[in-house]
Amino acid sequence: MGSSFGALFRITTFGESHGPGLGVVIDGCPPRLALDVAQVQAELDRRRPGQSRLVTQRKESDQVEILSGLSEGRTLGTPIAMMIRNQDARSKDYEEISHAYRPSHADYTYDAKYGIRAIAGGGRASARETAGRVAAGAVAQQVLATFGVEIVAWVDEVWGIKATVDDTTVTRAGVDINDLRCPDPVAAATMIERIEKARKDGDSVGGVIRCVARGVPAGWGEPVFDKLEADLAKAMLSIPAVKGVENGSGFAGTLMTGSEHNDLFERRPDGRIGTRTNHSGGIQGGISNGEPITLRIAFKPTATIMRPQATVDASGAPAVLAPKGRHDPCVLPRAVPIVEAMTALVLVDHCLRQQARAIPGH
Ligand SMILES: Cc1cc2nc3c(=O)[nH]c(=O)nc-3n(C[C@H](O)[C@H](O)[C@H](O)COP(=O)(O)O)c2cc1C
Repeated sequence: MGSSFGALFRITTFGESHGPGLGVVIDGCPPRLALDVAQVQAELDRRRPGQSRLVTQRKESDQVEILSGLSEGRTLGTPIAMMIRNQDARSKDYEEISHAYRPSHADYTYDAKYGIRAIAGGGRASARETAGRVAAGAVAQQVLATFGVEIVAWVDEVWGIKATVDDTTVTRAGVDINDLRCPDPVAAATMIERIEKARKDGDSVGGVIRCVARGVPAGWGEPVFDKLEADLAKAMLSIPAVKGVENGSGFAGTLMTGSEHNDLFERRPDGRIGTRTNHSGGIQGGISNGEPITLRIAFKPTATIMRPQATVDASGAPAVLAPKGRHDPCVLPRAVPIVEAMTALVLVDHCLRQQARAIPGH
């Protein structure tokens, strides 16, 4: 249970961190799309470990193999299966956690649920699982591009240091100017110092990723339980280490009055109805209003740190854990393409739902 996501563009991810491989099956991708596989690989390269000194040094090339659903570069409309083989698993680094639970990781809860777990590498709780999501998200982004939708995420805050970024103009090229994926070079330099300090201290830090989806037309989303922001929140909270999500003004809106917060409508020069401000974050009543969809996503500091920590074993007896292994001192730089992928998976699903309603000639 729990490994599938989406209604009309439905993905299922599979695989453990230290198993032979992992990947994704997409069911419901529209046929006849000229799929740019290099673009899928490029997104996986942005997520993969070992990219820079700011992230885990596990060496994985994360080469995608497409097993089905494509013919002569075009989607067939049948399931697209994509697989990535694991290459650099060092399972002996995980011997210690076989008998003691890592604080704030998933070791205890997986044991409580299943009574068995893939100990090495954290099994499916490892962020390696998200490689499948990123591959599927890259396909979703290519479908969305045909509708003029563009998604950009970036590291906006690390350990209290905030970037200044204009979400109406920020580009992916601007985000990728540094290893951190923060398009504000001044704030990025301080954030990088903080991450390096945490790494040297055997510690970890968290922060905030912001994401914008531009070009989403008015009318995507569903009322009530499948409200667009509800699906986006679920998508974001399903990413490992995410602890909070805001859409539009988010919690800051609680400090405003209605007259300050309301987004007044106006007619744009192209005749389209728009809003003067975007506190709604592009969604009203669970349905997109044509303005950019904006999200802020809170990531906790990485659970596995390189310091001895008090814990207990499966019997509850006290233990001290001094983890080995390779871990991200801050998960945010690698989480940027994951946030974009999950945003794309929600939007493509709602795009197809809206297409399913169209009656030719009406
Ligand atoms: C890109 C990315 C990389 C991560 N790297 C690590 C890591 O190296 N070590 C670790 O303990 N947790 C890491 N995590 C987080 C864990 O997977 C996550 O905290 C764990 O599964 C428990 O789930 P929860 O934090 O959502 O409760 C990473 C998360 C992401 C998104």
